[in-house]
Amino acid sequence: MSHPSKHLLAIEGLEPPHIGDLLDLAESYALLNRSGKTQRDLLKGRTLINLFFEDSTRTRTSFELAGKRLGADVINMSVSTSSVNKGETLLDTASTLNAMQCDLLVIRHAQSGAPALLSQKVDAAVINAGDGTHEHPTQALLDALTIRRHKGRLEGLVVAICGDITHSRVARSNIHLLTTMGSRVRIVGPPTLIPADAHRLGVEVFTDMKKGLEGADVVMMLRLQRERMVGGLVPSAREFFRFYGLDAEKLAVAKPDSIVMHPGPMNRGVEIDSAIADHPTRSVIGEQVEMGVACRMAVLDILARRLPRNR
Ligand code: NCD
Repeated sequence: MSHPSKHLLAIEGLEPPHIGDLLDLAESYALLNRSGKTQRDLLKGRTLINLFFEDSTRTRTSFELAGKRLGADVINMSVSTSSVNKGETLLDTASTLNAMQCDLLVIRHAQSGAPALLSQKVDAAVINAGDGTHEHPTQALLDALTIRRHKGRLEGLVVAICGDITHSRVARSNIHLLTTMGSRVRIVGPPTLIPADAHRLGVEVFTDMKKGLEGADVVMMLRLQRERMVGGLVPSAREFFRFYGLDAEKLAVAKPDSIVMHPGPMNRGVEIDSAIADHPTRSVIGEQVEMGVACRMAVLDILARRLPRNR
């Protein structure tokens, strides 16, 4: 079982065997979770701190559950911070965490690069739970596991990632993971929400939703992240839905057995029609949440193996 670092800060830089190992281990945790069993000795005596500078429902609770299922002592810290003293707050926090002898630190922060900065200052293994518009590595792992469970592989699949790509750390991590594993990734959205560096990401760019969805195996929808937008990059929600919202008509051009994904939180009627979000066979949104717990257990497990025993 290989992992190239003490931390998990990004998908970029991981190679196929690292990703494959994490997914295989996560798959075994998915089976364990379904059987109702736990492995509470694995992280016994370890302290996991969830440090969230931004809102979260799924990510925070699934890290909490993952830590508890493996027997760690889990502490949740929600912090609000003003943008002027962010750097200072972060370094102060680092010394507090060191004093508490935290082993595993899960951090979400509005600033890209905050987890990497903190990883240089704390003794703990740091896991990025989403930093600004940069990366959200555990989301990409859970998405990949969900895809692999449905399609049996990642290689050669056509995956369309649609909507607000520019502001999405989920898109960035998924692009790195899926291209590394040999999927063909398309990004689909209005020109104002396609990142300027798209051509360097190894993806195909589409501004016409139907062309982007044609023949896709996987359709991944993203939330319009208005909190990260400067100025009006999209017209009205209604107009956005007309051109880029996923409904039955647009989905009809994807493969008949294609799956529909969304990391949540969803804006129903903006990027996705409710009937599609709740579709009994096409939507795998609920399974993504389930796989989130399994993937986070795998990440905690792999990183804990590298920690010194009983500091
Ligand atoms: C995403 C995030 O926070 O980056 N949510 C999540 O972790 N499931 C996506 C989003 O906020 O739209």
